[in-house]
Amino acid sequence: MINLNTIKTTKRPLLDLESDLLLIGSFEGANFNLIQKKLNVDNGIQLKNALEADGFKGEKETSMTVYGSSGFKKIHIVGLGEKKDFTLDKMRSIASNCMRFINENKIQNVLIDGDSFGLGKNAFAQSYSEGLVLGSYVFDDYKTDKSKDVKLVDVIFCGKTDSNALKTGQVLGEAVCFSRDLGNHPANILTPTYLANESKRISKAKNMKSTIFDVSEFEKMGLGSFYGVARGAKEPAKMIIVEYNGGSKSQKPIALIGKGLTFDTGGISLKPGARMDEMKFDMCGSATVMGVMNAVSILQPKVNIIFAIGSTENMPGSDAQRPGDIVTAYNGKTIEVLNTDAEGRLVLADVLSYVDKNYKPKFMIDFATLTGAVLVALGHRASGLMGNDEKLINKIKKSSEITDEKVWELPLWSEYSRDIRGKYADIQNLGKSGAGTITAGAFLKEFVGDTPWCHLDIAGTAWGPKEPGYQPKIGATGVAVRLIYHLIEN
Ligand code: BES
Ligand code: MN
Ligand code: ZN
Repeated sequence: MINLNTIKTTKRPLLDLESDLLLIGSFEGANFNLIQKKLNVDNGIQLKNALEADGFKGEKETSMTVYGSSGFKKIHIVGLGEKKDFTLDKMRSIASNCMRFINENKIQNVLIDGDSFGLGKNAFAQSYSEGLVLGSYVFDDYKTDKSKDVKLVDVIFCGKTDSNALKTGQVLGEAVCFSRDLGNHPANILTPTYLANESKRISKAKNMKSTIFDVSEFEKMGLGSFYGVARGAKEPAKMIIVEYNGGSKSQKPIALIGKGLTFDTGGISLKPGARMDEMKFDMCGSATVMGVMNAVSILQPKVNIIFAIGSTENMPGSDAQRPGDIVTAYNGKTIEVLNTDAEGRLVLADVLSYVDKNYKPKFMIDFATLTGAVLVALGHRASGLMGNDEKLINKIKKSSEITDEKVWELPLWSEYSRDIRGKYADIQNLGKSGAGTITAGAFLKEFVGDTPWCHLDIAGTAWGPKEPGYQPKIGATGVAVRLIYHLIEN
């Protein structure tokens, strides 16, 4: 849940206001006299004396709290570090730390002196409210002891802080938290049907329409590759398509496609038991797509988008596919299933080619917890990026830098496509050499035709990272929601 109630702005001067907590930012070497002048005489002297007594300099990751005598019960001053090294990402982390302080101290209403944090620039105001929301996130839906519950917080900004920038940041922060929630729910609750219902709910918004295909329709639709994975599970698989038309009719849509494996046992090529519980996160690609869908439904950008999700469990049921089975994908290519645990690419093969053929998108981006190998290459720090179009790759890199959601490009040279040529069918779902992340990317490339396309392998970034500071201590991160929204907007 998000322990944040409202974010508002006021034009009234700080001295006219009251709150349980006042937050003030200070860059390194800032003049305390200026800070003192913001406050009434008593609070100002008290704060200045305290700052001097403790030798507070405004260095990063430092802060101080004093008790106010009137107006503000507490005043918390936060070190922002050197002004010249300041970034949007540092702002996001600082805001998130502020929120954790607020929650830990069970504070219910907060006044933030926007000017002292430099929130006059809209990009910083947006980052700040993203950070507040992200830092307030905890996943405690299944804890029955709520006695330690923190209070919902009301935040007011004073000074020159743009309320629209704050609103955008709040919506994006909430979209990331929604994506985290989807990732964190266990597989007995969050099924393909659950994802389909959430998509239907979101697409009640203006300019949106959802279509859900059930597993019973897959074979006759020609989704043979997806069906091969879905048939081992009792829980019905779904292909979810949401169309968003915020742009002009003549504008080609962009397509966002997610791997939604609500649980991956490996199928007949069963995974070992250790940490298999983490395979509830194998739907995080679809959670990224749905996080963006959520933000788009509210912010209504002027573009057309196709959101598509392939969702199923990968189970070793009695009707499960076997290693060696040959299936035919939507685009007609035949695939030899050498390992039923390489199932994500089989699902995406059909969803990618279905979207490509039926919607002729301007470009497609897929998100998938596709390979354990990407953790070997990049750890939890960056998502693996591959694609067939340099312009699109560069756009993603640009948005990645601005949003600080790290990506790293891996090559898709034609030699890697040779590594997935099949013995008995056109291609096989296992690479013949190492480079597991790249051969998986080369496999997907077979299903996108000539459409510009990129693939993000988020197996290392969708859960696990504990930094920067606005990441949750445990569980899903909501990776790439902010990155992709930035790309859409620009
Ligand atoms: N969902 C897994 C990938 C994964 C593994 C994500 C570990 C996060 C942590 C995927 O379906 C899978 O099982 N991939 C196999 C592919 C292999 C059989 C070619 C893998 O990475 O081991
Ligand atoms: Mn698998
Ligand atoms: Zn998987």
